[in-house]
This record gives sequence, C-alpha cells and structure tokens, in this order.
Amino acid sequence: MIISPGPASVVLGEAIAKELGLEPQLLSHRLFPDGETYIRFPESVKGEVVVLVQTTAPNPDRKLMQLLIMARTAKDLGASRIIAVIPYLAYARQDKRFLDGEAMSFDIILGLLESAGVNDTVLIDVHNETALNKISEEHEMRIHNLTAIFYLADYLKENTYKGAYSLSPDLGRSELVEKVSKVMGGGFSFFMKVRDRYTGKTTMKVKNLDLEGRDVVIFDDIISSGGTMARAIQGLKDQGAGKVAAVCTHALPVPGANEKLKNAGADLIVATDSVESIYETVSVAKLVANFLKTI
Ligand code: R5P
Repeated sequence: MIISPGPASVVLGEAIAKELGLEPQLLSHRLFPDGETYIRFPESVKGEVVVLVQTTAPNPDRKLMQLLIMARTAKDLGASRIIAVIPYLAYARQDKRFLDGEAMSFDIILGLLESAGVNDTVLIDVHNETALNKISEEHEMRIHNLTAIFYLADYLKENTYKGAYSLSPDLGRSELVEKVSKVMGGGFSFFMKVRDRYTGKTTMKVKNLDLEGRDVVIFDDIISSGGTMARAIQGLKDQGAGKVAAVCTHALPVPGANEKLKNAGADLIVATDSVESIYETVSVAKLVANFLKTI
C-alpha cells in the first residue's frame, strides 16, 4: 500500500502513513501562474494499492480538481486499486434536489471520482448518512463513511467535560449524538433547525432542558458561519447552562465565525484535523489508519 498525500492534506497524510508504519510518497505539486495544478507521482505506483489523501476545503473546487487529477494519473500509471481518503468532502450537503432544478452536487462529485478511477472513497462524518446510503446505490465505487465523534468525545472527557450533557443542534445528527452521549455519560437531547430552501436562512427551535449549572457539549458535523452553534450556545446559556463546548468534525470557519461563537459564550471550540483550522485539536489519523488496515 502506498500512501500519497495530496497538496491539501500533506500533514494529515503523513500522520496516517506513520500510524501504518509506512513512508508516505509525497507528490510533486505546483501551481501554474494561471492557477492550474501540476501533479506528478515521483515513484512507480504500478500494481500498487494507492491511497490518496486529500481534503477539499478551503477552496473546494481547486482541491477537488487536484484529487481528480491525482486519481486519474494513478489509474493511468497502473495502480491496482485507488482509495481516495477525503477527510472532508465539499458539496456533500447538497445531497438531494431540495428544489426543482437544483444540482445534485454530491452525486455529481461522487460520479467524477468514480470516473477518474477511484475504487473506494473514504469519508468522515458525512452530513447525511441516510442520503449517502441512497446515493451509494447508484455507484459501483465503494463509499465508506467513518465517524470521528468518539475520538472527539475522548478528548472532551479528558478535558473537563466528562459527564457533560450532549446536544445535537438539529434532528439530523441526533441518533449519532445520542450514541456518543452514552460515552460522555451526561444525558442527551436535540434542538430543531429548519432551513428555508429559498433564502437558505435557518431558524432554531430551542427546547428548555433544565440544564442549570450543567456543562454541555454540542456536537455537529460542520462549523462554517458559526450561526448554528452560536444559536444553540445562546439557547443553552439563556437556560443557565455551565460551560458549553462547541464541537465539530469539520471546521470551515468563515470570517466572523470565531467572534460569533465567542460572543455567544462558547467556552471551548474543538474540531478535528480533517481540515486545517484554528480549532483542530483531535486527529483523524488513527481513525483512518485503523480503517485502512481492514480493507
Ligand atoms: C447543517 O445542517 C450542518 O449540519 C451544520 O449545522 C451547518 O453546516 C453549520 O453551518 P453554520 O456554521 O454556517 O451554521
């Protein structure tokens, strides 16, 4: 097995290779002045299982294009199997046609990976696993979805949140958050979030949970504008909650998100290294490496 980190995930790719006791094969990469990407595999991959590690944020379109070029090149060079580890896959939230005429972006991206020669795609905490399972049926490529939530829970338990209450900011992830609440040990609930499909605006229905003085961990898949987390934190603080940790797998903070979270009262903000960010605290290297040992 050859681990080849792409330009977007050099550090994580190296960490995954180290977990597996392998030397990573770093790709030669540069950008032309007009923004095009140059990629070269410096050593032969003929007959090898090649694991490409490439996240797709920030700058999703460029990083996806790099990944497609990497995959297609590995195929042309005779790799026997191509496994694309995509720690964060952009466009996965557009997993169905919510309004007539919308692009099914998630499905399109998976189709592109497949046609570039990817045999297995490994994702982490994809936005909607049910939608993914449905889309997967349309593809021959095997698609695996791992969860980093138990690694995040371990970190929180070791860092003063043992026994904290677990909250999902919307119904979509409530099943998974309920599972992790058993590890956290402090109970569980969820708020309701509704999105206006025309404006994209969301509203949150906050439940009164009797959490006076209780520490709470909010688990979500993504922090982007910080709006979802900020509203949930505010709702909890208004009810007298103690410390509140805002925890996500993929941190994609846009300008202003950090202030929004801090102003809402976040006591701790934690994310994985699926995307490089100011919040990355927990590595997914072991999670991915352990999975790669099984396939
Ligand atoms: C969407 O429902 C996701 O699960 C996240 O809650 C959302 O992407 C977070 O985005 P933002 O930080 O912009 O509210």
